[in-house]
Parts: sequence; structure tokens; C-alpha cells
Amino acid sequence: MRCVVILLGPPGAGKGTQAARLGKDLSLAHISTGDLFRDNLSRGTELGRQAKSYMDSGRLVPDVLVLDMLFDRVARADCSKGYLLDGFPRTLPQAEALERALGKSARILALNLKVADEVLVERLGGRRTCETCGNIHHLRFSPPKVAGACDKCSGRLVQRPDDSAEVVQKRLRVYREQTLPLEAFYAERKLLVNVDGARAPEEVLGELQRACRGPVMEGCR
Ligand code: AP5
Repeated sequence: MRCVVILLGPPGAGKGTQAARLGKDLSLAHISTGDLFRDNLSRGTELGRQAKSYMDSGRLVPDVLVLDMLFDRVARADCSKGYLLDGFPRTLPQAEALERALGKSARILALNLKVADEVLVERLGGRRTCETCGNIHHLRFSPPKVAGACDKCSGRLVQRPDDSAEVVQKRLRVYREQTLPLEAFYAERKLLVNVDGARAPEEVLGELQRACRGPVMEGCR
């Protein structure tokens, strides 16, 4: 039985930070739709071009573009035993499409990181991402050893264009309107585990790991 673990949560909740660690721990491919779009953008593809204006303004990319890209990606061999989704689904139609595509062939667990808005704003304002390997730092909470350089690969640390104060507010509004209803969607199916994401990264990781050892995931390890 395949496992599909979903990391839900608002922008800055720590989905990318935790997914990198949890994916390794569970031996599941880490699939971030935001990273897939940014990769398309940096390669100058038509998909990247279409997604850019939505991402820059803090809006969601239309479902039709997201779904084709996502289902292409999870059809690859490294996802045959399951995968860890970061930033997908983000709308009810996306969640329904995933449910239909998986049918009874997989178990789903939705891990929902809860973090207050003021903490999210501080996290996003100080985030710096490695332009080479994608490693995530924070100027205050996980500063690099050498200013401006990634701890893992020494690549240049940059600020994401959508982390400006104005776009962050827009992303938080979009989250509340379009993504928050997914909590009820997965809670009704008894597939949701809420996790306090405001604690130290190691504590959050420990709770996510415990949730993945719980009854919902039985049979897919
Ligand atoms: P995406 O890249 O998915 O962005 P997001 O969901 O807004 O999430 P973030 O990457 O901003 O935050 P995160 O939760 O991963 O936090 P992180 O770990 O980095 O999407 C970008 C855009 O792409 C969207 O706006 C949309 O346009 C488009 N898109 C993507 N998927 C889509 C979809 N499915 N449908 C439609 N459109 C889509 O942490 C943030 C900072 O906090 C870091 O600096 C980190 O070091 C720090 N931090 C993390 N955890 C902690 C902690 N516990 N304590 C202290 N600091 C911490």
C-alpha cells in the first residue's frame, strides 16, 4: 500500500523545512509544487511563464496548470511507494482530484501545521533560500554560519520575491479563503492530524514523526 503524506499549513508554517527532513526519515520523495513552479520558472518553460504572474502577486496558480504538473511528477519511479506533498493540495478541487486519482491504492495522512499569523510574517520576512540547493535558512531562527552563504553547499542565499510584506499579506488571505477549507475536508475523512508548528523545528519534527507512526499509516510501512 502506498503512503501519501500531505503537509498542510499557511505560508511560512514550516512545510518546506519539515518536508526535507520528514521525507528522508520516511524514505518518501518530497514533492513541493512551489519548487516545481520555481524550477520551471528558472528553466524558462511555458508553464513557468504562465505561473509567474500568479506567484509574484501571491495568488494561486489555476488548478488546471497545477494538476497536470503534479500528476506528471508523481507518476515517476521515485514516487511508486508513495510521496510527501508540500504545498499541494491547496484548493478543494485539488484535494478531490488527488482523492480520485489515488482511489483505494494509497493511504493518505494530512499533517496540518498550525502557526499564528504574526509568527508567519516574521518567518517569511527573514527567510533566505539557497539558489543552488534550495536549503532554507532564517536570518534569526536558523542563520547561516557565513553570512549570505548556504550551510550545506555554500550557494548564494536569496530572498524569494513573494516574501515581500505586501505579497505575504495577500498569500495569507488567499490561504484563509482557498486552503483553510481543506482542514474540514480531511477531518471529515478522519485523515487529519493537527500539529503545533510554532515550536522549535526539532520538536515539530518529533510530533510529525509520531503522527506518521499512528494508526492511519498502518499497512504502508
Ligand atoms: P510555496 O512555495 O508552496 O509557498 P507557501 O505554501 O506559501 O509556503 P512557503 O514555502 O512560503 O512556506 P513553508 O511553509 O514551506 O515554510 P518554510 O519551511 O520555508 O508556493 C509559492 C506559490 O506557488 C504560491 O503562492 C502559489 O502561487 C504557487 N503554488 C504552489 N503550489 C500551488 C498549488 N498547489 N496550487 C496553486 N498554486 C500553487 O519556513 C519559513 C521560514 O521559517 C524559513 O526561513 C524557516 O527557516 C523558518 N522556520 C521554519 N520552521 C521554523 C520553526 N519551527 N521555528 C522557527 N523558524 C522556522
